[in-house]
Amino acid sequence: MAMKRTMKVVFSLALLLLPLASVAEEFDFMYLAQQWPDSYCSTHKYCIVKPPSHFTIHGLWPSYNKRPGSHYCKNYEAYLDPKHIENLETLLNKKWPSLTLNQNNLEFWSHEWRRHGTCSKLGQHRYFKAALKLAKLHSLSKILAGAGIVPSNQNTYTFREISDALAWGTGLTTYFKCSKNKAGDTLLSEVFQCVDRYGEKLINCTAPFKKKAHSCVNVNKIKLPTWFHH
Ligand SMILES: *[C@@H]1O[C@H](CO)[C@@H](O)[C@H](O)[C@H]1NC(C)=O
Repeated sequence: MAMKRTMKVVFSLALLLLPLASVAEEFDFMYLAQQWPDSYCSTHKYCIVKPPSHFTIHGLWPSYNKRPGSHYCKNYEAYLDPKHIENLETLLNKKWPSLTLNQNNLEFWSHEWRRHGTCSKLGQHRYFKAALKLAKLHSLSKILAGAGIVPSNQNTYTFREISDALAWGTGLTTYFKCSKNKAGDTLLSEVFQCVDRYGEKLINCTAPFKKKAHSCVNVNKIKLPTWFHH
């Protein structure tokens, strides 16, 4: 009798917890992160010799409104199979290159897939294709240039100028983060846009941006450097 009751309690508990578990698994949106290569190279020792002079993709990151994103999810395709993205490789080399000398492009993509892609519910081909397609929707360089924000080692721009240009140019909430080089310059290093859970379209972000360590909020002298292009 006691046994039967225990079983019943365990069973009801399991039923109660089941929906909770599946809700917790479901992320809310994804960040599309794009980086400015010259800023990366100004702050990292092992940078590639010729960084591209356009924004490049960093990754597509499943995220939650109320907590940090999950990493390295259990996935039957835990490791990136280059065959799955063979027909995207030319584009990926151009738009999603590794900026670090000790990691080649395929290693960079594998890392992003393992850390973030495995949590995305997308297959490998769809994951990389989605990022390429979404990054193509807006040319961040053109949007910034349209507002007079051009790569320069001298010019500086205010936080407000950059955020207004991105919001106006994309029609969407756009976040960005900065880094500091040794000379103490604040550099625009990365731009984030929000993407729906299916990797299909850009959306307005619903979560506040939590990159306090690299915040550019209220900084009035931000550079978009071009140290490596002469
Ligand atoms: C995002 O928000 C802006 C400003 O509120 C609005 O004009 C725009 O239509 C929204 N876009 C989407 C895709 O929801």
